[in-house]
Amino acid sequence: MAEWWKSSVVYQIYPRSFSDSDGDGIGDLRGIIERLDHLDELGVDVVWLSPIYRSPQDDNGYDISDYTDVDPLFGTLEDLDELIQALHGRGMKLVMDLVVNHTSDEHPWFIESRDPDSAKRDWYFWRPPREGVEPGTPGAEPTNWGSYFMGPAWEYDPASGEYFLHLFSRKQPDLNWENPEVRQAVYAMMNWWVDRGVDGFRMDVINLISKTLPLADGEPSPGLGGLCYDPATVVNGPRLEEFLKEMNAAVGIGERQLFTVGEMLMVDVEHARRYTAADAGELGMVFTFEHVTLDQQPGLSKFDLKPLHLPDLKANLAQWQEGLADEGWNSLYWNNHDQPRIVSRFGDDSEQYRVTSAKTLGTVLHLLRGTPYVYQGEEIGMTNAGYTDIEQYADIESVNYYALATSAGLPVPEVLNGLAVKSRDNARTPVQWDASPGAGFSTGVPWLPVNPNHRSINAAAARADAGSVFHHYRRLIELRHRLEIVREGRFALLEPDHEQLFAYTRSLEGRTLLVLANLSGQAVDVPAGLSVPPDAELLLGTHAEPEPGVLAPWESRVLLG
Ligand code: NOJ
Repeated sequence: MAEWWKSSVVYQIYPRSFSDSDGDGIGDLRGIIERLDHLDELGVDVVWLSPIYRSPQDDNGYDISDYTDVDPLFGTLEDLDELIQALHGRGMKLVMDLVVNHTSDEHPWFIESRDPDSAKRDWYFWRPPREGVEPGTPGAEPTNWGSYFMGPAWEYDPASGEYFLHLFSRKQPDLNWENPEVRQAVYAMMNWWVDRGVDGFRMDVINLISKTLPLADGEPSPGLGGLCYDPATVVNGPRLEEFLKEMNAAVGIGERQLFTVGEMLMVDVEHARRYTAADAGELGMVFTFEHVTLDQQPGLSKFDLKPLHLPDLKANLAQWQEGLADEGWNSLYWNNHDQPRIVSRFGDDSEQYRVTSAKTLGTVLHLLRGTPYVYQGEEIGMTNAGYTDIEQYADIESVNYYALATSAGLPVPEVLNGLAVKSRDNARTPVQWDASPGAGFSTGVPWLPVNPNHRSINAAAARADAGSVFHHYRRLIELRHRLEIVREGRFALLEPDHEQLFAYTRSLEGRTLLVLANLSGQAVDVPAGLSVPPDAELLLGTHAEPEPGVLAPWESRVLLG
């Protein structure tokens, strides 16, 4: 396989919550350096670092005020250099988060652009108020767009009498990629990082960079204050592929064999195939949202819950496996810093089934074709935060949603339940390293409380227990490294309509890998028609003594024939 990242496993670090070396309650770069043995033992190949750049931290670093410096919260550029060297010394690569759909409103570019006469005015989307409406009053916004963090996507600037666009918080103004100077400044910054030793980029909401002009009203979304929250209005704009190709050429992404993954809202498999085709010169892979929106009411917000129907999940993953089989490449993920914990979401985080269901979910994902991502804490089966009060939440999206939904009259218990299940803070509680009071994360007061279950669920315990989720993930990663069939084998879904069983094969050169997984708390008979290869070897399983023909609750098996 030519591209090295196609046989890699990526580990995502959300630095704020990973490991705090100086006791200020916030994770930092030196904390990461101290924990590299954990990653080494797990066997991952690449670390993706969520933003550590200078930032007012309105959105925990996804609001950047200096792209070429490290925020003092996290350390210094020298610490980062040391991390790069330490990773490279262990044979691992480093991928940086690239957040260039927007900057912070405290970035010097934006500060300069506030002046209507400045050369940078056009670096952002400044627009006059809607005609006939008093500027600064509701409805005077240039379009009816809602921001992803709720409320209008436009902020009024009384000094110039104009509005600026922010698809996320009002402290995250959108850059105008139509302006070639903006693009050149971004490419120069990327080159600066690659020259410093980084191995690639995870590109934040990258399919928002090309906007359809002129910016125009969209269909109002149901139930959310008459604004249009439909991403279709702003994603996959007409110049997206042109910009990506230009970026590739300017940064030498192909020649320098850089890792790229683009986070994309509303991306379907056809788009993904185009963007990730070998000769497209656009992206290595994309992050789709399709499989993580199957437990929400269609057309409504992510907090409007719906139980997962397993056949939907299987059909979706299969569609991506098949759609990118001959062209393009898949990313494989359950978790990241924006998603609830998978064991609490599609698994069962009760004491009885937490370990088994976490292992089985890991199995069904890691044996697909693509590049798997492990989000910090997933490898030890960390669970959701279990918050019951709005005061416990720190995340801007969660806090804003609560305000909007309760003021629109939604019952508080319903809103809190939506947050408990889906809030991004579920992923952001500190990594549970050991059973000590600060969970080994910090000697100070953690910025977000550690989950009390760290006394039993923690990395030290998991590493010492051969039957833990950690060692299961380690074995899955080892299988990918060892077996070409895991990296390359052709995927086929079995029993698509079965509501408990997730079964599939991977085939290569006459051999078959069979994955059998029970994604439920009830035992399941293995359907008679399901062909287990004769003399198949059991490569990995969740149970010591598997019973022929029956899968115990949450049991999974991986067979090679
Ligand atoms: C996607 C990131 O993953 C998320 O955390 C962030 O809030 C938005 N993009 C805005 O940058």
